[in-house]
Amino acid sequence: MKLFSGNANKRLALAVADYLDIPLGRCEVRRFADQEIFVEIQENVRGQDVFILQSTSYPANDNLMELLIMIDAARRSSAKRITAVLPYFGYARQDRRSQGRTPISAKLVANLITQAGADRVLTLDLHAGQIQGFFDIPTDNLYAVPVMARDLRANYDISNVMVVSPDVGGVVRARALASRLNAPLAIVDKRRDKPGESKVMNVIGDVSGRDCILIDDIIDSGGTLVNAAEALLANGATSVAAYLSHGVLSGGAVARIISSQLKELVITDSIEPTAAVDAAPNIRVITISDLFGEAINRTALEQSVSRLFD
Ligand code: R5P
Repeated sequence: MKLFSGNANKRLALAVADYLDIPLGRCEVRRFADQEIFVEIQENVRGQDVFILQSTSYPANDNLMELLIMIDAARRSSAKRITAVLPYFGYARQDRRSQGRTPISAKLVANLITQAGADRVLTLDLHAGQIQGFFDIPTDNLYAVPVMARDLRANYDISNVMVVSPDVGGVVRARALASRLNAPLAIVDKRRDKPGESKVMNVIGDVSGRDCILIDDIIDSGGTLVNAAEALLANGATSVAAYLSHGVLSGGAVARIISSQLKELVITDSIEPTAAVDAAPNIRVITISDLFGEAINRTALEQSVSRLFD
C-alpha cells in the first residue's frame, strides 16, 4: 500500500500516514512558469495499491487538476489499483439542474476522476448521499457523525443537548447524530431566495433551555449557521454550537463566525484549516485522520468499511 498527497491537505495526509504507520509516498507536484501542473511520483508504484489523498477544496480547480494528473501519473506507472481519497469532494452542491441550461458539475467531476484512472473513491459526508451513484466505480462515503458524537460526549452535558438541523435537507444527518447521543431533534426551516443568502422562517421543536447543537455538512459563507443560531437563541435556547464536516469558510466567513452568537464552531480537517481558522477563538478543529486511516487500511485488506459505523 502507498499513500500520496497533493498540495490541498498535506497535514491530514501526514496524520493518516502516521495512523497507517507508513511514510507518505514521495511525489513532486509543481507548477510550470505558466502555472500548468507537473507531477512526478518519485518511487516505484508498479503493482501497488495506491491511495491519493486530495481534497478538491479552494482553489477547487487547481486542486482537482492536481488530483487528476496524479491519478494519471500513477496509472501510467502501472499501479495495480488507484483509490482517490477525497476528504472533501468539491462541486458537490451542483448535483442537479436547478434551472434550464445549467450543468450538473458534480457528475462531470465524478466522470473526470473516473476517466483519469481511479478505480475507487473514498470520501466523507457527500453533500447528498446519492452523489455516490455519480461514480461508476466503487465509492465509500464515510460519516463524521461518530467522530462528532465522541467529541460532544467529551465536551458537553448531553442530557441537556438538543440536536438541530439548520435546514430541512439536513434532517437525516441530524437524526443520525441525535440517535447516537439519544438526544431530541429540532429543525430550522431555512429558505434561500438566491444562492449565498439564507433566511430562517421557523424553528420546529421546543428549544427553550436547551444547549443546541447544529449539525451540517458544509459551512461556506456562514450565513446558514449564524441565522440559525440567532433564531434558536430568540426561541429561548441556552446556547448554540455547531458541528460541521467541511469548513469551506469562504469570503468573510471566519470573521462572521467570530462575531456571531455561536458558542463554538467545530469543523473537521477534511479541508486544511487556514491561519485565520487556527487563530479564531471560537473555531475548533477535530481530526478525521484515524477515520480515514482505518478506512484506507480496511480497503487495502478488502475488509468491510461500513463496519466502521456499526
Ligand atoms: C446546504 O444545503 C448546505 O448543507 C449548507 O447548509 C450550505 O452550503 C451552507 O452555506 P452557507 O454557509 O453559505 O450558508
